[in-house]
Amino acid sequence: MIDTKNIVIEEIKDFDHKLVEVIKNLEKKNLGREVSINEWVIPVIIRYGKIILIKKNKNGEIMGVCEMVKKWSDRDTAFIHSFYINKEYRRLGIGKKFLIGIINILKRDKLKYVELTIDPGNRAACSLYKRLGFTVKEVRNNEYGKDVNRYLMILKL
Ligand SMILES: CC(C)(COP(=O)(O)OP(=O)(O)OC[C@H]1O[C@@H](n2cnc3c(N)ncnc32)[C@H](O)[C@@H]1OP(=O)(O)O)[C@@H](O)C(=O)NCCC(=O)NCCS
Repeated sequence: MIDTKNIVIEEIKDFDHKLVEVIKNLEKKNLGREVSINEWVIPVIIRYGKIILIKKNKNGEIMGVCEMVKKWSDRDTAFIHSFYINKEYRRLGIGKKFLIGIINILKRDKLKYVELTIDPGNRAACSLYKRLGFTVKEVRNNEYGKDVNRYLMILKL
C-alpha cells in the first residue's frame, strides 16, 4: 500500500539529463512509442509550457506525469497534452488526487479553462474527467491521423 500522506505534486522548474530520461521512459511505458515525447520535446515543454509530477514523497519515485501548454489565441485556456499514472500505481485514487492538484495549479495561475483530447473508448480517463466536471465540447475526427478520432473535453476552472 502507498502512504498517501507524503504524496507531493510539483511543477518542474529545473531539470537535468537524468530527469528527462526518467520522464522519457515513463512516457514509453505508459503511452507507447508513438504518442510519447522525448528528449527533444520534454525540455521545451518544461521551459515554455508546464510539466507537473506526482511523486511518492519529496525525493521519491514519480507516480504520474502531466504535460501542458497554453493556447496561443486564448491565453485563458490551457491544454493538457498528456496525463498519466504509472501502470503499477493505477486504481489507487492517485489519478484523481493528481488531477485535482493540477486543476488547483491552473486556478492559482488564473487560467479560466482547461481542455484535452481523449480517445472516446478510454473508459478510465473519460470517467475520471467527467467525475471532476469535464464535459465533451466537440468531436474532432481524424485529429491525430486518419480515423483517429478524439473528444475535445473542457473544464471551466
Ligand atoms: C486514466 C488514469 C490517469 C486514471 O488514473 P488512476 O490513478 O488509475 O485513477 P484513480 O484510481 O484515481 O480513479 C479515479 C476514477 O477514474 C475512473 N477509473 C480509473 N480507472 C478506471 C478503469 N480501469 N475503468 C473505469 N473507470 C476507471 C473511476 O471513475 C475512478 O473513480 P472511482 O474509483 O471512484 O470509481 C490512468 O488509468 C492512466 O494513466 N491511463 C493511461 C493514460 C491515459 O489514458 N491518460 C489519459 C489520456 S487523456
